[in-house]
Amino acid sequence: MKISTAIVKKQGALLNIENAQLDDPKPNEVLVKIVSSGVCHTDAAGRDMGMTPYPLALGHEGAGIIEKIGSSVTTVRPGDHVVLSFSYCGHCENCLSGHPANCVHLNELNFGGHNFDGSHRIHDESGNDISTFFGQSSFSSYSVVDEHGVTKVSKDVDINVLGPLGCGFQTGAGTVLNYLKPEFGSSIVIFGTGAVGLSAIMAAKIIGMDNIIAVDVYDNRLKIAKELGATRVINSTIENPNEIIQKVTRFGVDYSIDTTGCKRHP
Ligand SMILES: NC(=O)c1ccc[n+]([C@@H]2O[C@H](COP(=O)([O-])OP(=O)(O)OC[C@H]3O[C@@H](n4cnc5c(N)ncnc54)[C@H](O)[C@@H]3O)[C@@H](O)[C@H]2O)c1
Ligand SMILES: [Zn+2]
Ligand SMILES: [Zn+2]
Repeated sequence: MKISTAIVKKQGALLNIENAQLDDPKPNEVLVKIVSSGVCHTDAAGRDMGMTPYPLALGHEGAGIIEKIGSSVTTVRPGDHVVLSFSYCGHCENCLSGHPANCVHLNELNFGGHNFDGSHRIHDESGNDISTFFGQSSFSSYSVVDEHGVTKVSKDVDINVLGPLGCGFQTGAGTVLNYLKPEFGSSIVIFGTGAVGLSAIMAAKIIGMDNIIAVDVYDNRLKIAKELGATRVINSTIENPNEIIQKVTRFGVDYSIDTTGCKRHP
């Protein structure tokens, strides 16, 4: 079918919205009409860093409505509201033991630009292959994804705000809830208050952590951090995080997360 999709043609280039052809869903796949998509920092990495072959259709925080399902799909049906997430094989030891984020094929499936069988599902109007990103390429009018790449969500919730649940939110909240598993009353510093950092703050608040310190270089982001549960915010262009953390916690924090993507902090 004909779709419009945001394509980056070469490393570091601007995205162009273009017409393209999207293959029909295979038996294990679904066609999703994309309603909204978050923009994750990793989209900028895909545009700039060359880890996925160009031309590349970006976007990986899609939310939409199921329009068509493949013949073996059983968990969703047309009309369902869904959030799209990363791609995983579903067959390797890590997938089968409940850790799809550690799928042994994760890099290939999310950054290789092609399907598991090596084929492509997006093509330009002359039939040339276009890489997919995270198996979804959600900056598009429609996406075809694996059945297990979608999660059904309630129709009562505004679908326009749900996309980041599929990447930034689950990464930040999952880091705290599933990996750090901090104790009630313990302390944490979170560097960077984008989608990942803010979700980590919300998870820390849910757990009942005592000192939740947020560091960023933008006051508007730190304002949101405070609203969502940070007990102390630090603009590191104005205050020295090291000094403030020592002062607030006396012996330093119990846990720390860096979501800035920066090699050095100012
Ligand atoms: N599953 C995963 O591994 C996964 C998922 C999502 C995002 N990511 C990565 O996590 C990082 C964060 O993603 P995001 O979407 O929240 O990005 P974002 O750009 O929205 O947030 C990053 C924040 O860091 C702040 N920052 C930048 N430099 C800083 C500095 N020197 N000191 C303090 N703060 C600084 C920015 O102002 C911004 O608020 C990115 O590198 C992204 O690629 C990884
Ligand atoms: Zn992401
Ligand atoms: Zn796997």
